[in-house]
Amino acid sequence: MNLGIKGKTALVTASSAGLGEFAARALAAEGVNLVMFARSAQTLQAKAQAIAQAHGVRVLPVVGDMRLAADVDRLMAQTVEAFGAPDILVLNTGRPPVPMREVLQENEEQRWQEAYETQLRGAIRVVSAVAPLMIQKGWGRIVGVTSASVKQPMLKHGLSTVFRAGLTGYLKHLANEIAATGVTVNTVCPASVGTEAMEQSYDLKLRAQQVPMRRIGRPEELGAMVAFLASDLAGFTTGTAIQVDGGMVASLY
Ligand SMILES: NC(=O)c1ccc[n+]([C@@H]2O[C@H](COP(=O)([O-])OP(=O)(O)OC[C@H]3O[C@@H](n4cnc5c(N)ncnc54)[C@H](OP(=O)(O)O)[C@@H]3O)[C@@H](O)[C@H]2O)c1
Repeated sequence: MNLGIKGKTALVTASSAGLGEFAARALAAEGVNLVMFARSAQTLQAKAQAIAQAHGVRVLPVVGDMRLAADVDRLMAQTVEAFGAPDILVLNTGRPPVPMREVLQENEEQRWQEAYETQLRGAIRVVSAVAPLMIQKGWGRIVGVTSASVKQPMLKHGLSTVFRAGLTGYLKHLANEIAATGVTVNTVCPASVGTEAMEQSYDLKLRAQQVPMRRIGRPEELGAMVAFLASDLAGFTTGTAIQVDGGMVASLY
């Protein structure tokens, strides 16, 4: 299938590892140039170089923290200088504070603040800088990475559910407001997708038994969904929240 995005530019946030990295890889495989953004310079630069070599695309690594307005300003300046306005934004974020706790145990102000900055405020900071540039061009794809917990809250995922539900609400508003501009806004909602961070936090064999498909997802399967939503073919799809969860969410919607 030709996704029709060869030669376009994608900004992928939180992309030095895991789901962000695999979303970047899936887009690069379609011939999309990339801006990759995360905090650890060495890892980010190594991944950017590997992806550029593997797919013959241009990849600009920008080191920074989504929680810091100055870093997001610098990210935007470097992106526009290198590529002009991005065509695609994959809005991935860092994980919520660990260890995960039940909501009544979540009584430390600092953890709430960190979860807010990481999951919600940082993401809004990026999307509100990028969306006007896409609207000006008359074409754009925004794909947020949230969590299946926005549809079916998972045990000890309160700090994820609360702020990602907020981000889902923000992005739904945006999708509605800009639907006629050529810019689509969708989210993917993962659960039990096997990244290194997941391996460190969970017993994945045990976890697989709780997934209706009885297996852990591959990060490539998340990347493929992101690439489709970012494609020209997905032009009539906006405002959706699509699970990539092996069937975990048991409700109708
Ligand atoms: N895997 C799943 O099944 C699953 C399920 C539900 C939700 N999620 C969510 O999906 C996201 C990705 O998950 P993952 O498993 O791929 O996590 P991960 O492997 O920990 O990757 C997180 C990425 O975000 C970057 N990052 C973290 N904080 C950042 C910040 N403040 N500014 C810029 N970049 C930042 C990290 O790089 P640096 O540390 O270098 O900055 C890394 O590249 C997370 O928010 C996770 O909670 C995942």
